[in-house]
Amino acid sequence: MLVDTDPGLDDLLALAFALAAPELRVEALTTVAGNAPLAAVTENAARFLEWSGSRIPLGEGAAEPLDLSPRDALEFHGEHGRAGLWLPEAQQPAPDSALRLLRRCLGEGRLDRIVALGPLTNLALLLREEAELLAGVEIVWMGGSLAGGNVTPWAEFNCYADPSAAATVLGSGLRIRVIGLEVTRQCRLRPSDLPPEPFGRGPRAEWLAELLNLLMQAEGRSAGTPRATLHDPAAVAAAIDPGLFDFEPRRVVVDVAEGERRGEIVERSGPGGPAVQWAVAVDAPRLIERFLDNLRDWAGAEATRRAL
Ligand code: RIB
Ligand code: CA
Repeated sequence: MLVDTDPGLDDLLALAFALAAPELRVEALTTVAGNAPLAAVTENAARFLEWSGSRIPLGEGAAEPLDLSPRDALEFHGEHGRAGLWLPEAQQPAPDSALRLLRRCLGEGRLDRIVALGPLTNLALLLREEAELLAGVEIVWMGGSLAGGNVTPWAEFNCYADPSAAATVLGSGLRIRVIGLEVTRQCRLRPSDLPPEPFGRGPRAEWLAELLNLLMQAEGRSAGTPRATLHDPAAVAAAIDPGLFDFEPRRVVVDVAEGERRGEIVERSGPGGPAVQWAVAVDAPRLIERFLDNLRDWAGAEATRRAL
């Protein structure tokens, strides 16, 4: 599978979750402007791959949404999109172009799934130019909401950031699972949910604990109490085990205008239009347990690697 991402604090947790999941083979990462400008999210992704000791190829994608004005979430994710969290300098080669990397991986038949953790700009651009490349590929998207937004009362951020891209992808007829706010809001961690040293000991374990703490503090500033909503990790969980969720078909439309309800998603009233699989329920305790277990594995991988 390929992960399209805009790291971003919860994206970084989702990437560690995905890399440590034995069920998933992550072939490549692509970045898209979203939580932070493109240069920042790409640097964060490159530094994370370095920290993970991963040789996964990285592609740098779209710097702006398809047609509306750019929006970011730096107010939430902080300086450089990672709230000052340390990550090592990336020694890896300069990233490829996301579209070129997507074309190569798809053309070689190496992708049966794409997990999208940010705005859908890259996938929309590929659909516009070479839709046939995505035939047969399942898309799992953290985005959208049919129950109120998080960046406005109506819109979820990944949809708000590029509504036209969301409309293009959701209307494409591809197999799409949407992990929206209805279910991600149930996947929350609070400090009291975690034991001391939640990921064990060692550099990676301490780094993960700091990352989760930064996310809890970031969300705590608006929620009034420290907590972390596992938006992007929930989408990775859906790729690992769709059985953690209940899905129902939904035919939806996206408000693509530059107005108050930019990025709002509502169910289509009339007939026509393809359905997407919309997550309507989640086994949050099982998802969280799996998430924490995998992060412990990711943290321990470094110790194992060093011991070899
Ligand atoms: O609304 C939550 C989504 O917006 C997550 O993907 C988070 O990383 C931000 O991009
Ligand atoms: Ca994200």
